[in-house]
Amino acid sequence: MRTQVGIIGAGPAGLLLSHLLHLRGISSVVLEKRSREYVERRVRAGVLEQGTVDTLVEAGVGERMLREGLPHHGIELRYGGAGHRIPFEKLVPGRAITVYGQQEVVKDLIAARLAAGGDVRFEVEDVELHSLESQPYITFGGERLDCDVVAGCDGFHGVSRPAVPEGVLSVFERDYPFAWLGILARVAPSSEELIYARTERGFALHSMRSPAVSRFYLQVPADARLEDWPDERIWQELRTRLETVPGFGLATGEIMERGITPMRGFVAEPMQYGRLYLAGDAAHIVPPTGAKGLNLAVADVRVLTEALAAYFGSGSTELLDGYSDACLKRVWRAQHFSWWMTTLLHTFEEDDPYARKLQLSYLDYVTSSEAAATTLAENYVGLPFEPGR
Ligand code: FAD
Ligand code: PHB
Repeated sequence: MRTQVGIIGAGPAGLLLSHLLHLRGISSVVLEKRSREYVERRVRAGVLEQGTVDTLVEAGVGERMLREGLPHHGIELRYGGAGHRIPFEKLVPGRAITVYGQQEVVKDLIAARLAAGGDVRFEVEDVELHSLESQPYITFGGERLDCDVVAGCDGFHGVSRPAVPEGVLSVFERDYPFAWLGILARVAPSSEELIYARTERGFALHSMRSPAVSRFYLQVPADARLEDWPDERIWQELRTRLETVPGFGLATGEIMERGITPMRGFVAEPMQYGRLYLAGDAAHIVPPTGAKGLNLAVADVRVLTEALAAYFGSGSTELLDGYSDACLKRVWRAQHFSWWMTTLLHTFEEDDPYARKLQLSYLDYVTSSEAAATTLAENYVGLPFEPGR
């Protein structure tokens, strides 16, 4: 079997790449380890930057997102007994975020690929990459896929990045001493906008998915186990951390899904080796506080699509050669923003009273200075994509 681009992983990165390549007349095969049901149900990110929304709309896969997604023009930072709104409409006019679940993006992309006759294979076993320096091929479940280029879109725990020989990649990473416990609950949101709450007991986030479904996160110790967090404890802790301003009451409901996500920043450089190009979580991850993971995956895929279109169109490898450099600038900006939001809002056990005072002083600055709030808003809604990327 032969295709132009062999894509490993049917997450947002792999599926969007396959779709954008199709629009440019470039063939691809997507190989996914999990079942279609599994990837369509996996609850993860929910905040789409303006550039991500624009990308999906321009690619013709934004129709349901525009109908069902929730545009947001601000977020609240809650601490010290008060809420402080960061007004996007004032600070970054014309730019906003859309709250729309990652699994809905994945569903829309799978539907679009299948409707166009795309080759997306689920539940493939034993994916291995070969001969990445010259004429790459992928083996899986006893089959062989020859391709011109391999796109490693298989997430942080995939096989693409480990297929790069030892010593080629430089890795930069930071583990945080806490995790996020996330739940999806059948209850109307208690707030119209997202609430990022900093308390002495730790961070909490109130997000949402629809007028009837809410999403919450709690900062928990890195070694926390779900079995130690029965429903009542989760709701109690959310109430304690969110009901800190007069008149705010948290509505509770059935917990439909729950999980614990470790908090980590990670970048592998360069994001390419031979004919292999890494995109999305396969190359980098961020702590979710800045809501950047999914959006970075989309940004990578835009760059890679342009580079592949140039390569298959004219044979020029210039953009492909510069792929990693072109992506890494945005990747590091997102790393910094995610680290900054994380340190601003979480409690660190090692923090002494002096460090806590610094954190609160910084929060006061961000919520009172227009310049500082604009820095947050501009990064949160996402820096514009450079022309052609
Ligand atoms: P993924 O979505 O991870 O997709 C990779 C795909 O590759 C998966 O479908 C996987 O099954 C497949 N795969 C893996 N190994 C193989 C293999 N060997 N062969 C074939 N296929 C393979 N971001 C936020 O902004 N907010 C959040 O709340 C949030 N929560 C998260 C929770 C978890 C548990 C994780 C892991 C990430 C979370 N993120 C969150 C980050 C965000 O979801 C990711 O940045 C985004 O999914 C990146 O998309 P991707 O396509 O690069 O990778
Ligand atoms: C989410 O809704 O899942 C979400 C929102 C904001 C974040 C992270 C996750 O920073």
